[in-house]
Amino acid sequence: MKLVFIGDIFGKSGRAALISSISDLKALYQPDFIIANGENLADGKGLTEKTAHPLFEAGVDLLTGGNHLWDRADSLAYIAGNTRIVKPLNYPVQTPGSRFFTLEKHNLKLTVINLCGQIYMPPCDSPFTALENILPEIREISPCILLDFHAESTAEKRAMAWFADGRISALMGTHTHIQTADEEILPQGLAYITDVGMTGPHDSVIGVKKGLIVEKFRTSIPVRYESSDWGLEINAVYIEIDDETGQSLHIKRIKEKVELR
Ligand SMILES: [Fe+2]
Ligand SMILES: [Fe+2]
Repeated sequence: MKLVFIGDIFGKSGRAALISSISDLKALYQPDFIIANGENLADGKGLTEKTAHPLFEAGVDLLTGGNHLWDRADSLAYIAGNTRIVKPLNYPVQTPGSRFFTLEKHNLKLTVINLCGQIYMPPCDSPFTALENILPEIREISPCILLDFHAESTAEKRAMAWFADGRISALMGTHTHIQTADEEILPQGLAYITDVGMTGPHDSVIGVKKGLIVEKFRTSIPVRYESSDWGLEINAVYIEIDDETGQSLHIKRIKEKVELR
């Protein structure tokens, strides 16, 4: 199977960048599934029905989360009611969102899970234990499994890659909003990248207007964050997985500038 995974879509301009580019991505890569990280859809903070629905309409099959998934209190019921929004599995059971979701199309089945890291991140349970515990249940469904590992620490992501190789098909790192140039297939077929990057405004500090964040660092005075609208890019990864074995065959990093028409 072929799939495209889109890195954290940031705010209104990130959504617009993806919607204007998605037909080109479909034409070029012919993906069976398009998966995107949606924790920053609503002005960088969480997601809402208004911000998620147009992406599903445009052809995104599933949205993964992260530490910001529940930032919008008015949207918790929407997240709870939409099975195609997958939350970090190692968060408390009470948090809304699917534990995992299996996408099905053309007799293909791909299960998507999401975990958060523990290093320099809000508290959560061990992602290693959470993966180990869920695997028997999801491997019954399909050998094709994608993990969005939403984490700050490169070492934690790299360790998870070695832990996951031979057990799942792909580990897509997210959260830092900066794409890494280390995509590879590990020896037992894990497609891996430390961070897919951000789909959104790169003329910014990880999505926020750069002047505000520079002043915050310069003065230590808190500022109200505003999303940037400039320097739009699609940051994503294309993967091919052997449907029978669940091993990845090919990974390609995507980093394209976007001019809104
Ligand atoms: Fe993010
Ligand atoms: Fe995050």
